[in-house]
Amino acid sequence: MTSAKSVTVRSATEQDRPAIAALQETGFGMRYGDDERALHHQLWPVERALVAVDNGRVVGHTTDITMTVTVPGQHTVRAAGVSGVAVAPTHRRRGILRELYTAQHERTESDGLPLTVFTASEATIYGRFGYDTAILDTAITIDRRRAEFRPSTPDPGGVELATLAESASHIEEVYGRWQRQVPGAQARPAAKWGMVFADVERHRDGATSLFVLVHPDGYALYRRRYRDHRSIVSVVELRAATQQAHLALWRVLLSIDLVDSVEAEISDDDPLPYLLTDSRAVRVTRRGDSLWARVMDVPAALTARAYRHDLDTVLAVHDPFRSAGGEFALRVRDGVAECEPTTRPAELVFDINVLGALYFGAHRARVLAAAHRIRVEDVPALRAFDEAFTTDRMPELGWFF
Ligand SMILES: CC(C)(COP(=O)(O)OP(=O)(O)OC[C@H]1O[C@@H](n2cnc3c(N)ncnc32)[C@H](O)[C@@H]1OP(=O)(O)O)[C@@H](O)C(=O)NCCC(=O)NCCS
Repeated sequence: MTSAKSVTVRSATEQDRPAIAALQETGFGMRYGDDERALHHQLWPVERALVAVDNGRVVGHTTDITMTVTVPGQHTVRAAGVSGVAVAPTHRRRGILRELYTAQHERTESDGLPLTVFTASEATIYGRFGYDTAILDTAITIDRRRAEFRPSTPDPGGVELATLAESASHIEEVYGRWQRQVPGAQARPAAKWGMVFADVERHRDGATSLFVLVHPDGYALYRRRYRDHRSIVSVVELRAATQQAHLALWRVLLSIDLVDSVEAEISDDDPLPYLLTDSRAVRVTRRGDSLWARVMDVPAALTARAYRHDLDTVLAVHDPFRSAGGEFALRVRDGVAECEPTTRPAELVFDINVLGALYFGAHRARVLAAAHRIRVEDVPALRAFDEAFTTDRMPELGWFF
């Protein structure tokens, strides 16, 4: 049996492409279509990939690109967006992921990025590397025939049917406006836009190609599918830079004839259920997480975002995977933070995962303290810390990777 010791981790080259693709297809149980291969290569340049090689054969892979992500206060941070993590089933549980991650996180540190993010396949793997859920999402299904808007709800109009080709630049422009408002949302690179507009077959999951609705401040991309003799609208992406656009688009989506239900993913502060006379017409079908985050540099990450309340506290942060931990004085005035190492005694003690969970505003510090994830040496300090980290708006993932 091969141990991780016989395995070498190195940067990938163009020659590794076929082996990397085969490993990912095996790991994630799918086949890349010809319509997406070139776009996939553009989005994930092979120079960023790390491979684990055993006896000349690629048995492990990880990669990342630098993403620009909005943080509370409508500032941005640069983050390593990790993707394509896979180890061959013949080589599992011998420490290959750990070796790949160690090399990758060393590189992220030397690149000076304050944050790493990814979408996780399983919830029990990544805590040991200092990650936690940073954005939550909720899948809903709406019984369209029960979905009536409250009489007081305006009907702003302004939505038109469009094609992807004619609305591409409008869609990109609106996405950019939306993304800059929303914590957690990433700027979308050209290669990823290429994938959206190519509407690749594998992403359709048996449904139609994309239908498009546009509004001057929003758009909705959706598919039609039939399941168990029911006709369904599946909203793939709805982005609205204003509340009016959000309402106008939902009014159209919920009035499409010959439709039994409308499926979508929404954030926790989406007003949609409150707009309807029967809030039970909106049924939650899945509660999940869409992004995980790890703070790589505590002062750089904590000073990059804004805060809701003034704060003066000392945090003790444990980081068993890397050495980003320590004691830090965190001071906030008028939303702006200063953070530096200190020798003062800590008021709040936690693993670095907690900062990933709190960073974009998806979780409350007081809840994590109740769950024994924060050791509280000073009760008023927890209250101030909890309030300071709250946000105006719940975080949302811009695009899945
Ligand atoms: C997940 C995957 C990458 C793990 O690779 P691996 O080389 O077997 O992992 P390692 O042996 O390096 O394990 C590293 C640690 O994670 C733990 N771990 C690995 N897989 C785990 C799992 N599925 N559930 C819980 N813990 C897991 C190991 O116990 C080990 O813990 P320790 O170092 O604290 O003792 C591999 O199983 C895989 O490719 N799965 C299919 C694709 C996938 O899910 N990729 C992840 C996408 S986010």
